[in-house]
Amino acid sequence: MSVVAPAIDANPLREGLEQERVPDASCLVIFGASGDLTQRKLIPALYSLAHDGLLPAGQTIVGYARPDYTDDAFRMAMREACDKFARVRPVDDAVWDNFAKGLFYVKGEFAEPDGILRLNAKLKECDQTRGTGGRRIYYLAVPPNFFPVIAELLGREKMVTDPEQGGPFTRVIIEKPFGHDLASAKELNKVAVTTFRERQVFRIDHYLGKETVQNLLVLRFANGIFEPFWNRQYIDHVQVTVAESIGVEKRGPYFETAGISRDIIQNHMLQLVSLIGMEPPVAFEADAVRDEKVKVLRALREFPRGHEIDAAVRGQYTDGSVLGEKAIAYRKEVNVDPHSNVETYAALKIFVDNWRWADVPFYIRAGKRLPKRVTDISIHFRPAPYPLFNKLTNVTMQPNVLAIRIQPDEGISLKFDSKVPGPTVRTAPVTMEFRYATSFGAEPPEAYERLLLETMLGDSTLFARRDEVETAWAWLDPLLNAWGADPRGPELYPAGTWGPEAADRLIERDGRKWRRP
Ligand code: BG6
Repeated sequence: MSVVAPAIDANPLREGLEQERVPDASCLVIFGASGDLTQRKLIPALYSLAHDGLLPAGQTIVGYARPDYTDDAFRMAMREACDKFARVRPVDDAVWDNFAKGLFYVKGEFAEPDGILRLNAKLKECDQTRGTGGRRIYYLAVPPNFFPVIAELLGREKMVTDPEQGGPFTRVIIEKPFGHDLASAKELNKVAVTTFRERQVFRIDHYLGKETVQNLLVLRFANGIFEPFWNRQYIDHVQVTVAESIGVEKRGPYFETAGISRDIIQNHMLQLVSLIGMEPPVAFEADAVRDEKVKVLRALREFPRGHEIDAAVRGQYTDGSVLGEKAIAYRKEVNVDPHSNVETYAALKIFVDNWRWADVPFYIRAGKRLPKRVTDISIHFRPAPYPLFNKLTNVTMQPNVLAIRIQPDEGISLKFDSKVPGPTVRTAPVTMEFRYATSFGAEPPEAYERLLLETMLGDSTLFARRDEVETAWAWLDPLLNAWGADPRGPELYPAGTWGPEAADRLIERDGRKWRRP
């Protein structure tokens, strides 16, 4: 990926794991600085980068939000957030003090021209005092309806530079949800490219910042042994599971408009499917990688018109218990309609209609209030061509499975049959395992650390491009519309189970079974 620069202060723990790159100092403005995302993810990630010596001297972070903070009060609140949520804990006082010198706060409403003027004055001041040279990154940690007005004000106040004209960079990071459907995503994209050029826009999908998700590309394209088998000739089917034990927590109002399909499937899940399915890119750089990913999305088989819901199952959790604790039904969660038909679980059987994957089903499922939190991809290979041992007693041959554990206990395992030691021929499945924790010792960085650093470096390989987002919506919209019009609503499943029975039938009617990750 992009430029390799010497580290200012390499952390010995991670030495040798990667080449460290240090960007030019910029002002990173967080719109929505009083929100949950800033406290739980953004500031802790920035602090961890500082701790690892990956932030340039002079890097500046300006929080912008409605509450009345002074710089010092903001710093104190952010220190508390880091004490709770930073990957690198306890927080190192010396690193913090230096980091906090670059933290500022400007109070303002998102749609308030005066607020934006105050912000601009602060940014110019930072250029003088902190050497940020007019470089800007705007992080929109705000609901999507504020995006147009913020973009317009930034444009009007000349706070956005044009990369075609040279000069210091301006970039914008946009959080999901990126639209609600194809039409709204197109609208947002239109606004984005009115003020910014596509290469200035960094659409976050935090799954792409996960180490294990990036390792999918390395596994496939840095090794000679997997690629020859990575196709319909050897692969029987693929499964992807994104399971969460938590419910919707306090996010009822958002989830009521989203459901699991918009929350996870349209973005995180389809990103995983693209990475599993894509052809080798001509280079490991932003457009080459994304060109290949978008081809997978374009090849997704359309839902049969009028029968969209036949290839999918939607579910919703009812009362139950998860990890030994009582869990209430979705319809009883705070700010959720007691008659809601929003899905908290979805399972789909999908196809990538191209030369490599023709007729290989991808069974994908995502759900809240499942028995545990796990994200798992499994590649199920076809059985051996001739069942040589099946005539012997005590022998049942199991197909090989390559399992890629995205989280937790990140790693990769390969299941194959082995002879059980002894005088007779008996077989049993065994697994060969690689685990990040044991092989590399150090904890992988948080997804947001990687993504913030990539934005500062100007590398958008790990961000969704406009056509990816729109193609994903274009494919999913017909199913969402069909569900919206279907009065039967989702099938219910008790919290703490693996989803509705219909999801088991979806795969079992093909003679296959969900893997229990
Ligand atoms: C977010 C969704 O994008 O991803 C959440 O909005 C979900 O609903 C989260 O809980 C899952 O992320 P992770 O990293 O915990 O798998």
